[in-house]
Amino acid sequence: MVYRRLGGTDLHVSEIGFGTWGLGGDSYGVTEDRTSLDAIALALERGITFFDTADCYGRGRSERLLGKGLGACRQDVVIATKAGMVSRVQRNFDASHVQRSVEGSLQRLNTDYVDVLQLHSPREDDIVQAVETCGWAGRLVEEGKVGAVGVSVSRPEDAGAFVRAGVRVIQVNFNLLDQRVRASGLLALARAEDVGLIARTPLCFGFLTGRYAGDEAFGVDDHRSLWSIQQRKLWAQGIRRFDTKDEESDIMFALNFCLSYPEISTVIPGMLTPAHVEENCRAAGLPPMDCEALNQLFDTYNEQSFIVK
Ligand SMILES: NC(=O)c1ccc[n+]([C@@H]2O[C@H](COP(=O)([O-])OP(=O)(O)OC[C@H]3O[C@@H](n4cnc5c(N)ncnc54)[C@H](OP(=O)(O)O)[C@@H]3O)[C@@H](O)[C@H]2O)c1
Repeated sequence: MVYRRLGGTDLHVSEIGFGTWGLGGDSYGVTEDRTSLDAIALALERGITFFDTADCYGRGRSERLLGKGLGACRQDVVIATKAGMVSRVQRNFDASHVQRSVEGSLQRLNTDYVDVLQLHSPREDDIVQAVETCGWAGRLVEEGKVGAVGVSVSRPEDAGAFVRAGVRVIQVNFNLLDQRVRASGLLALARAEDVGLIARTPLCFGFLTGRYAGDEAFGVDDHRSLWSIQQRKLWAQGIRRFDTKDEESDIMFALNFCLSYPEISTVIPGMLTPAHVEENCRAAGLPPMDCEALNQLFDTYNEQSFIVK
């Protein structure tokens, strides 16, 4: 494993992090706790030290599993959780709600501090309040309950307001088919302001693995069932637009693409099984793609839209 500094914090994190949305069992289909715990155990063995979760993932199940799976290793890892997403459509960034959420997370994670608290996907209308709450959350840092305050932004262009308010950890979508992080200028801002970027959905919900055609029947517990078949097919075919032949697998190509930008502190593929952990960890420490290669991939991204209009 290779480790990087998390932007303007004192934290160091594995460049391959563990995204735990799927462990909640209600976003990527039904999951078995035993398999999830085995995946966490293997992640620790392979040197993963960054785990991303949220109060709402599986209504707390993801955090509970993480607390159990990390056990005595808790001090050796960095846990980032989230607060403020009440449901797919409802947000609450009131300081009192965030405080209650953090207390619940600490209980479920079986710990007395979280390393990073991220406000969870504030929408445009929430930004003013969420910026205020980031300032208020400084008291959670003073109390030792939180190490650093960050934001998991809905859109890269929302990050500026938080960075201007002093936030130095931003989580954002980033993958071959979604390079808005670069197009929006967020990479440049992160470089200038020493902001640590956490790259989420690096496999475009699994469609960049090359293992889907897009027309599969996803179950009701799998959020991919909510996307139109046209959109899924466009994503599934997307990887073929990029020349991945020099890499061992499409997955390693997709993860190495994110890590080739030094502004990315960690990339957090969602992992459901030990096999996922094994495979994704193989992308650690690969030689980064050079500027020319990254520019070509950016050009390919700009040549066509990967969003169904
Ligand atoms: N708003 C937010 O804050 C937000 C939003 C989204 C995600 N996140 C965070 O970012 C993390 C990553 O995003 P994501 O999980 O949605 O998407 P992702 O990382 O792009 O894709 C994850 C899915 O890809 C498949 N996969 C992963 N590794 C694989 C491997 N080695 N081989 C084959 N398939 C593999 C798995 O699904 P299948 O095996 O079922 O195909 C897995 O559930 C989340 O877990 C969460 O922590 C945060």
